[in-house]
Amino acid sequence: MQIAITRRWPAAVEKHLADSYELALNDNDTTMSRAELAAAMQTADALCPTVTDAIDAELLATPDIKTRIIASYGVGHEHIDLDAARARNIVVTNTPGVLTDSTADLTMTLLLGIARRAGEGERHVRSHAWSGWRPTHMMGAMVTGKTLGIVGLGRIGLAVAQRAHLGFGMRIIYHTPSAPPPDAVQGLAAEPRSLEALLGEADFVSLHCPSNPATRHLMNEERFRQMRKDAFLINTARGNVVDPTALTAALKSGQIAGAGLDVYEGEPQVPEALLDLENVMLLPHLGSATVETRIAMGMRVAENLRAFFAGNEPPDRLA
Ligand code: DGY
Repeated sequence: MQIAITRRWPAAVEKHLADSYELALNDNDTTMSRAELAAAMQTADALCPTVTDAIDAELLATPDIKTRIIASYGVGHEHIDLDAARARNIVVTNTPGVLTDSTADLTMTLLLGIARRAGEGERHVRSHAWSGWRPTHMMGAMVTGKTLGIVGLGRIGLAVAQRAHLGFGMRIIYHTPSAPPPDAVQGLAAEPRSLEALLGEADFVSLHCPSNPATRHLMNEERFRQMRKDAFLINTARGNVVDPTALTAALKSGQIAGAGLDVYEGEPQVPEALLDLENVMLLPHLGSATVETRIAMGMRVAENLRAFFAGNEPPDRLA
């Protein structure tokens, strides 16, 4: 059985898979072209893409596809056209759950980092500009006891709520399409809000919704106007949930106090205007980037492949 893997994975996972399958590895570890992806689907029994590979209807219309399962390395699946895969009888899986904690940790990194001006402070030290302690130097915003508004209370949103509430005594308000199970929010004293009310109330707004047509540019000019001027936006979800032009304008004009971003529309491009602003902390899509999690994601893919090729239902089947 041949498995085509579009990017290099942690060695432990590649070794684990190599024990059971013939692996077609992308030795360059650069984004594969559409022609290369199409060729991989014509030769491999399984394709293992990542979020940077667009497996769209056009690609899935490639003639003579041999691939019977697309086992994606990651939880987000907006890069795969599930309907087109279903139409070709191709099973699709993802890796939910295993990256929840790492992504929630990184959300807190950005929240704390932008509130306490950590990126700015580090640049200050590295550029030899620091002249010593003084009472008014680089004062940031306190996090403890503030209100966190979570947009999208799924697995990752809940894990952020737990860290923020139990670790930092933050008050949690949330906006989410369907009510979370009562035991999930137990002990968090979390209160639901309309999006508008949440934006007007929260000191920090953290986005945890999936990328889909309904959430595209959810944070637009009007929504930034609804936020408090001393509030911060954190985005570890997907870049296109935020309108980058509106965000840049809101940061420049002081419409909001700052932003912590891990994801961008059109990655790896980052709007040039953001690079010059001090009130934004920018990370390169590192949400799940811990050794433990990246191995766990690969092992989850392996589990989906194992079930599928044994004739069973893969645990994380999407299509
Ligand atoms: C995902 O899994 O969707 C992330 O964005 C990459 O870890």
